[in-house]
Amino acid sequence: MASSDRMMVVTGGTSGLGYECARNLARDPRTKVVITGRDGTRTRELAATIGAHGMALDLSSRQSVGAFVAELVAADLPPLSGLVCNAGVQFTRRTLTADGVEATFATNHLGHLGLILDLLDHFTAPARIVLVSSGTHDPDQFTGMPHPLHATAHELAYPPPPTESAQRDARRRYTTSKLANLQTAYHLARELAPRDITVNAFDPGLMPGTGLARDASTFQQLAWKTIARALVVFPGVRTPRGSGADLAWLVAAPDREGTTGQYLVRRTPVRSSVASYDEPVQQALYRDSVELLAELDARR
Ligand SMILES: NC(=O)c1ccc[n+]([C@@H]2O[C@H](COP(=O)([O-])OP(=O)(O)OC[C@H]3O[C@@H](n4cnc5c(N)ncnc54)[C@H](OP(=O)(O)O)[C@@H]3O)[C@@H](O)[C@H]2O)c1
Repeated sequence: MASSDRMMVVTGGTSGLGYECARNLARDPRTKVVITGRDGTRTRELAATIGAHGMALDLSSRQSVGAFVAELVAADLPPLSGLVCNAGVQFTRRTLTADGVEATFATNHLGHLGLILDLLDHFTAPARIVLVSSGTHDPDQFTGMPHPLHATAHELAYPPPPTESAQRDARRRYTTSKLANLQTAYHLARELAPRDITVNAFDPGLMPGTGLARDASTFQQLAWKTIARALVVFPGVRTPRGSGADLAWLVAAPDREGTTGQYLVRRTPVRSSVASYDEPVQQALYRDSVELLAELDARR
């Protein structure tokens, strides 16, 4: 058995926000941190730089999620007490996974929901789950991003051909997935309360320079990495380092014990979009997503 007494998993811990969150968590010797990334070798190397454990996980693949959970459960690691659902993608055109599902929805929403459900019996209470969302889910905030869609999980997984530009459609899929992260957090907060597992959502703010723009054009990537960094003086614009510390605090700080069903910006609870609070819609998304996961598993 390792000397730490608890384990926390950070998905997408190889870059940007996830790496900074994991780096903060790993400073506490009581916590064994597991970071995930799609390339196992690269993830293990990056994990070693912060004293964490690295494992391969591709959230867009049910097969990969299953293999990750099996590896985690079999490993000689302390009890699981925290899961940060951080990994995220934003495409510039319609992209499908190997399972044939729209890739933004599959990775940002469905992959994380499947991971949470597969890990559920392996948490040691009291435990915490945090889902990383984004202010772009909220049509009442000016973010320059298209408003999220309101559709069933099946419609989002298997959408009809785009009726707007490929880039706008892909961005709308992103804001829709970030709304789904919030709806899932609120729903699971209620469902998991009897198990003493808290569930919250977090908005890291705009963090120019992370890998999120990796699918964008060379010019857009250059702007994201250089010009946009100058925006850091504006409110709502953050660094991965600053937001990573806030995210680590939310999943690990003793005074957050019992906090559940909240959406936080920095370290402050805020209101999310009006639509995100609709409980029947949250439930419908959850039920339909669970059905989708079962269908995907049956095809494996
Ligand atoms: N940057 C922003 O302005 C901003 C604003 C609001 C919210 N967010 C949210 O913050 C979170 C982190 O984003 P970031 O900006 O830090 O982006 P990032 O630097 O691109 O990090 C994304 C992480 O996700 C992992 N990842 C990508 N595809 C994956 C897949 N299919 N399966 C598993 N892991 C995958 C990547 O790891 P590998 O490539 O090693 O697999 C990487 O570690 C995301 O949820 C994003 O939506 C970001």
